[in-house]
Amino acid sequence: MATGVSSTKWNGGRESLDRAAPCGDISVSLSYEGKKPASEILAGAKAQTFKIWGVDEDTGKTANRLYWGDNLPVLRMLLDDEHVRGKVKLVYIDPPYSTNSVFQSRDQKDAYADLLQGAHFVEFLRERLLVIRELMASDASIYVHLDDNMAFEIKMIMDEVFGKEHFRNWITRRKCSTKNTTRNRFGNIADYILFYAKSDDYIWNRPFDPWNEERIADEYPYLDEKTGRRYKRVPIHAPGTRNGATGGEWRGMMPPKGKHWQYTPAMLDELDAKGEIYWSKNGNPRRKVFFDPGKGVPQQDIWLNYRDSINQNMVVTGYPTEKNLSMLENIVAASSNSGDLVLDAFCGSGTTMQAAYNLGRSWIGIDCEEAAVCSVLKRFNIGSEKMGDFVTDKAARHYKPHELLDERNFAQSLFGTCPFQFFVSEDKIGQAKADFKVKIPESDKRATLSDIAKKAVEPAIKAASLAVLAKVIS
Ligand SMILES: C[S@@+](CC[C@H](N)C(=O)[O-])C[C@H]1O[C@@H](n2cnc3c(N)ncnc32)[C@H](O)[C@@H]1O
Repeated sequence: MATGVSSTKWNGGRESLDRAAPCGDISVSLSYEGKKPASEILAGAKAQTFKIWGVDEDTGKTANRLYWGDNLPVLRMLLDDEHVRGKVKLVYIDPPYSTNSVFQSRDQKDAYADLLQGAHFVEFLRERLLVIRELMASDASIYVHLDDNMAFEIKMIMDEVFGKEHFRNWITRRKCSTKNTTRNRFGNIADYILFYAKSDDYIWNRPFDPWNEERIADEYPYLDEKTGRRYKRVPIHAPGTRNGATGGEWRGMMPPKGKHWQYTPAMLDELDAKGEIYWSKNGNPRRKVFFDPGKGVPQQDIWLNYRDSINQNMVVTGYPTEKNLSMLENIVAASSNSGDLVLDAFCGSGTTMQAAYNLGRSWIGIDCEEAAVCSVLKRFNIGSEKMGDFVTDKAARHYKPHELLDERNFAQSLFGTCPFQFFVSEDKIGQAKADFKVKIPESDKRATLSDIAKKAVEPAIKAASLAVLAKVIS
């Protein structure tokens, strides 16, 4: 019945009474040990963060920002930021999936752990979703990427946090090439994206896929003899009875039982005169719908064209679980407009931020792992490498964290790529000092690295950096 025409009432008969839905609260919720009240979660500790590096705030527009720290206190801190609270138009998150594994980057280093299980995982994500919701504008959308480990549980949590009525799609994505599975089950090549809007009035720029010859021939299989145009045949009746003209006789025929004509008999005559009715050998009429390429094929909820890392020429950062950039561009284009603010609170290598930047949006990215932060810095300062280069080890030039913050890279990056601010949360400051060689003077914890570097580097580099800074800020 899934593809049939549905109704909320059983039509007529004595049985209709037995089939009436029972009244009362019919909502379904997930209960588990340790589920905190929403008020407690929202009132929890806020992060203190330090700006290490980056351009100054541009008046009127939220500057791109990368935060290194646990996202929950950072998100709570952003509740107090007038540039962010209620301003985020699009959220995409690709959190750990509860796979009980530790992921390594292409250079074989541990990048992040995905070890939370069951209720611990559910509550971990629920806490963040509740705060994220507060940061979102009323016309914002959120996409949550998961796999089959926890998608069902999190769908219920999303219904609770955002309202079941704001659920839009459960998108199935083909994530990889066909697997030669050795286990006694079907090869697993799908993961899932839950798409919710914050309200009924949300940004939506309908995405279209281009037509191709195979698809046109499949969907419009017939050729019109007179015009040579491709067409498909569709019924000229629809379910439900009518008392007016569309329920009456046309060319000596009544609509089939329980149905009505889709057009009045006069309009059906007109269509026939224009050659837009096909008559079968048995005299059954069907309407000809001619192929019109329009903008393309409206995109559906099964995505086959956004596999991750499928060929050696694809450019990647080398971060594990790095997502397909075109998929993120598709989401950003569909659910935000130019100049809007996009948030990814589990940003990994920064694919969402790259997509946002490519499409003229501002971004905020948060991640708690140094490997992720380094991937983002590298992506925007130095660029990504072809996947094949990781195999042949051409990409073996391993930058040390402090090299990624070097003013020379900063200077280079500002000419070609995306300027942004880099903040470190209090709990990571020790690591930042050791690995990024960041100096935070006790007297001025808010001093930026560029301030500090200006004092330290040779005059030529200092001059170049200042020139670049001036260019960006002006
Ligand atoms: C699946 S990866 C994201 C990959 C990303 N979409 C990309 O394209 O590169 C999940 C990320 O969530 C981060 N993460 C996990 N727990 C976090 C937390 N509490 N706060 C911030 N980031 C967290 C991990 O470090 C990891 O980088």
